[in-house]
Amino acid sequence: METHLEDLFPPGTEEHELLLKVDLDRLPRHIAVIMDGNGRWAQQRGLPRVQGHNAGSAAVREIVEASARLGIGFLTLYAFSSENWKRPRYEVGRLWRLLREYLGKEDGLLVENDLRLKVIGRREGIPALVLKEIERVETLTRENRHMTLVVALNYSGRDEIIDAVRRIMAEGRISAAGLDEKAFAGHLSTAGIPDPDLLVRTSGEMRVSNFLLWQIAYTEIFVTPVLWPDFRRRHLLEAILEFQKRDRRFGDVRAAAKSPRGRT
Ligand code: FPP
Repeated sequence: METHLEDLFPPGTEEHELLLKVDLDRLPRHIAVIMDGNGRWAQQRGLPRVQGHNAGSAAVREIVEASARLGIGFLTLYAFSSENWKRPRYEVGRLWRLLREYLGKEDGLLVENDLRLKVIGRREGIPALVLKEIERVETLTRENRHMTLVVALNYSGRDEIIDAVRRIMAEGRISAAGLDEKAFAGHLSTAGIPDPDLLVRTSGEMRVSNFLLWQIAYTEIFVTPVLWPDFRRRHLLEAILEFQKRDRRFGDVRAAAKSPRGRT
């Protein structure tokens, strides 16, 4: 095993055993995660919901670092949906504060690990102080290449599709007949980012919840009952192992065929 992995997956641990089973040459290039179950995690412990988000934030740190170390190219985290505004004001305020604190504290981790931050979602509506922090960290990490950390904030897959249509119409450069998948995808907030190979959802819910609706057309979905604050490196490895067992055919009849857009 490559030595740079041994401090995060030390020999003799369950993580290490799982890592030995992972084919490091066939990792998903892009993993997207619906981090769910923070509220339930807190409830089970008789704690306020916001404590679940605090614990969820620690899980984010662990999974970001582990993904980068493994060599995942893109990690997308669904951190605040446009529907999350319906939650109690106090919880909404704490979520934004957590996100701001995360960016304030973890910028070093992003720089040290050569990670680039990209935020997707409608920026209008994001609290000004958080937006300032986002722009600072995006600029700071702009040239980093090892992994792109995409964080979906004030995000809705349907809004994203509508915004893409609006942009195409406003530009007026593409005719109705000239519009194809490539041109359309180039107007989404994920332009230039490959579609996710693997979508992980925690806490057992079998929904996609308005996340990356266009981009997950051929994505393998892995749902685990583990609540997000309990999601650890070993669960990430389990998801990757499950992904590596899947037969991705992209609508073809042959195993491991190329995707319609040439992806494997
Ligand atoms: C879903 O759990 C989780 C969220 C709405 C927020 C996700 C945010 C974090 C993990 C915090 C920090 C994020 C980053 C990127 C630093 P839920 O509250 O819907 O859980 P429930 O379904 O059990 O109520």
